[in-house]
Formats: sequence, structure tokens, C-alpha cells
Amino acid sequence: MSMPNMVGVPLSMLDPKFLHTNSTSHTWPFSAIAELIDNAYDPDVMAKQLWIDWTRIKGFDCLTFQDNGKGMTKKGMHKMLSFGFSDKQAVGGHAPVGMYGNGFKSSSMRLGKDAIIFSKISDTMSVGLLSQSYLESIQAEHVVVPIVTLGHDGQSSVEDAASLQDILKHSPFNTEEELLTELTAITSISSTGTRIIIWNLRRVANGETEFDLSTNRYDIRIPEDACETHKNQNITQSVPEIIYSLRVSISDGEPIGSQAGFGACKYLP
Ligand SMILES: Nc1ncnc2c1ncn2[C@@H]1O[C@H](COP(=O)(O)OP(=O)(O)O)[C@@H](O)[C@H]1O
Ligand SMILES: [Mg+2]
Repeated sequence: MSMPNMVGVPLSMLDPKFLHTNSTSHTWPFSAIAELIDNAYDPDVMAKQLWIDWTRIKGFDCLTFQDNGKGMTKKGMHKMLSFGFSDKQAVGGHAPVGMYGNGFKSSSMRLGKDAIIFSKISDTMSVGLLSQSYLESIQAEHVVVPIVTLGHDGQSSVEDAASLQDILKHSPFNTEEELLTELTAITSISSTGTRIIIWNLRRVANGETEFDLSTNRYDIRIPEDACETHKNQNITQSVPEIIYSLRVSISDGEPIGSQAGFGACKYLP
């Protein structure tokens, strides 16, 4: 889509507050993570692996989701960040899980206020920003999503200049080199794929992130007190691990080496 000098792509006339309202459909945070797993597994992406990790970037606790699926063009990323658009088809009997075109938006915004998406497909690399903090900061009346496409040489086109400036100003990646480093994280593993980074993670009343990121370096856990409602009437019964351990809930996750120490790799069927 060619929109010279426009900041981002306007997503119809959605009020930015909708991003939060829409995210409340996920009452349990792992159901939001399951949506992202489904997206990587769906027949239009067909990732074989999805790496879920926690890392800290410039002081922000971040969740990262990186797959070795088919990746997206700029147009595909626009669809990803739009609402209600899904043209998934079954492929070879592999039926898509997503079909309402809302899973990414509701799940990413359930996990944190802000998300940046890096995607590599054949010869293009695109970066998109879905960010409540950004929309608040520019006092946007409608949801807009800056998207920029970088060529092999890391250069973007003039028509993306305003989007690029906004991504650099309102994400943890403040230079084009830093954006390229994240794209290299994809290409170091596979020729195509998508890397999603979510920051400003949701916090609970005591100010901590809703996930316990430190007790077990090989797991993302939900603190015990948040699991109280899942306890059986019988108070001696403990909460099943599948409720509070991401590693157990994705069942075949195995540790992989990662800078942050935590890493779960989901092998997709
Ligand atoms: N990890 C991914 N890799 C490539 N494309 C993706 C990925 N996640 C989402 N998409 C694209 O974004 C679109 C919107 O995703 P989503 O909001 O979850 O809706 P749905 O899954 O119902 O289509 C998907 O249809 C898909 O084309
Ligand atoms: Mg989906």
C-alpha cells in the first residue's frame, strides 16, 4: 500500500482503547500464548518450531516469540495487524485454528501494552508496531500501525520514512541497525520467519509482572497466589502444574540455549 508521508496505516476507525478491551477475552495469560502458538502452526505459516523466550531489552522485560514459518510481506503484516481479516484455508487436511482475524491482536495486547513484529520472507523484511503506548503518546484518535519494509541493504523506502521514525522513537529499537539485528535473529536460524517482541508486560497489583520470570530460569510461571481460583474446593489439593507452568502447558517444550537463560522451544506437528 502506498501512502506517502502518512504515519502508519490507519486501521479503519478503531478507538485505541479497543486494543485493551479486546484483550480482556483472555482470562488466563497462557490462552493468549496459545493463540500465538496456533498462528505459527496454522497452514499459512507452517512453522516447524517456535521459540518462546524472556529477555530484557533496554530495561524492558520482554516476551519473544520466534518461528521459522513462512514469514510475511508488508501486505501480510498489514493484514496481521488489522482486525477481522483472515483468509486461511486448510492445506492437505491441516485445518487452520485461527479464522476470525483477531487472535494476534487480542493475545499480544493481553500479554503487554506494546508489540513489535519482525518478519522475513524471500527478499523482504518488514517491521510493524502495534503499540498502545505509542498511540497514547501521539494522542491517536484511531488505531494506526507503522510498518516499514527494509531491503537487503537494510534501507527503507522514502514512503516509509514517517513510519520508520515512529518505530525508532516508540519501540526499544532506536536505530535502523538495532532493527536489523532483530531481523538477523530470524535469518540466523531460518531463511524465513517471524519474531514478535512484546514489552510493557502486564503487571499485577503489587507492581510485579504477571509472570514469574525469575524462580525457574527454564520456565515462565504464573505466581501461586494468582492461581488460587484454580484450586479445588479441597484446600489440600494443589494447583496442577499445567495451570501455572508454561513449560508444562506447552508440554513438549525443551530448554534451548538463550542469552536470557530461559528458553522454551515448541516443536509444531
Ligand atoms: N507467526 C506468524 N507468521 C506469519 N503470519 C502470521 C503469524 N501470525 C499471524 N500471522 C498472519 O496474521 C493473520 C492474523 O492473525 P490473527 O489475528 O491471529 O487472526 P487469524 O489467526 O484468525 O487469521 C493470520 O491470518 C496470518 O496471516
Ligand atoms: Mg490466529
